[in-house]
Amino acid sequence: MDVPTGEAADAPLDKPSVARMYDYYLGGFHNFAIDRQAADTVATLHPDVALVMRANRAFLRRAVHFLIVQGIDQFLDIGSGIPTVGNVHEVAQRENPAARVVYVDSDPVAVAHSAAILQGNDAAAIVQADARRPEQILSDPVVRRMLDFDRPLGVLIVALLHFIPDDGEAYGLVRAVRDAVAPGSYLVIGHGTMEGLPPERYAQMERLYAQTTNPGRFRSRAAVERFFEELTVLEPGIVHVPLWRPEGADDLFPPSTRTVHQLRRCRLQTVGVAFPHLLLTHWQGPLCIASTIFLI
Ligand SMILES: C[S@@+](CC[C@H](N)C(=O)[O-])C[C@H]1O[C@@H](n2cnc3c(N)ncnc32)[C@H](O)[C@@H]1O
Repeated sequence: MDVPTGEAADAPLDKPSVARMYDYYLGGFHNFAIDRQAADTVATLHPDVALVMRANRAFLRRAVHFLIVQGIDQFLDIGSGIPTVGNVHEVAQRENPAARVVYVDSDPVAVAHSAAILQGNDAAAIVQADARRPEQILSDPVVRRMLDFDRPLGVLIVALLHFIPDDGEAYGLVRAVRDAVAPGSYLVIGHGTMEGLPPERYAQMERLYAQTTNPGRFRSRAAVERFFEELTVLEPGIVHVPLWRPEGADDLFPPSTRTVHQLRRCRLQTVGVAFPHLLLTHWQGPLCIASTIFLI
């Protein structure tokens, strides 16, 4: 396992970090007061935000499982996040112990904790890099040594592109990856969309995220579809994450103490409808949309 250049000690603590906020939403402990405060403020605008994150995580797990079944045995996970339950190498290597995974993230805490849990795992590594510079990722010596670009690859870009607000950089990342991989590779994208969000609520969320380490910008459905141009989109197409090949009730209703807590809060404060109805209401509305694509 290669030792990454980033250390948690480098973590900027003057701003909330989207990686640490995500960890907090998922019930992790690699976050600080500044992150929890920002995450709680977002939750007041979007009370089921933690549920969305869990649904996203479940989507990632299903996508990796799907790719393993297709025979993919090497993964490049860009914007991989702080390790949590169901990390890509765990899902992949449970089904194929020889599967190789390279994680890429720019956040020092994500990198340090990934390095710690990957100690002794020769088939997985973490690289600290900025996804806005794909050429650096694609030429990174660890990436090149671990992954064989002459064979099909599973590329995961999940819940990252909305943290790359510049269109040139976001589409440029996807284009660079598409150009680099072998025929038969798969690309998995999860992207936040403002679809169904009241514009003023979206604007408030954008302002909140502007104060974090990675200001974000959700894109419209049409803008998200552009990432998939000239690619074959697999069934069921570009859909809200829980609807992408759900395997059971948990995929539609991911359990979580904190999520339940937030939903209860929401129920009391805003709508007062039954729990499942609330979930369904929200899932018809603003959520990440995602799809898996087959590269020809
Ligand atoms: C919401 S998390 C998603 C984690 C994981 N992909 C998932 O879906 O569970 C977004 C991650 O993208 C990382 N990130 C944001 N901007 C980045 C950039 N320019 N380069 C690399 N990583 C970035 C953040 O540090 C964070 O860990």
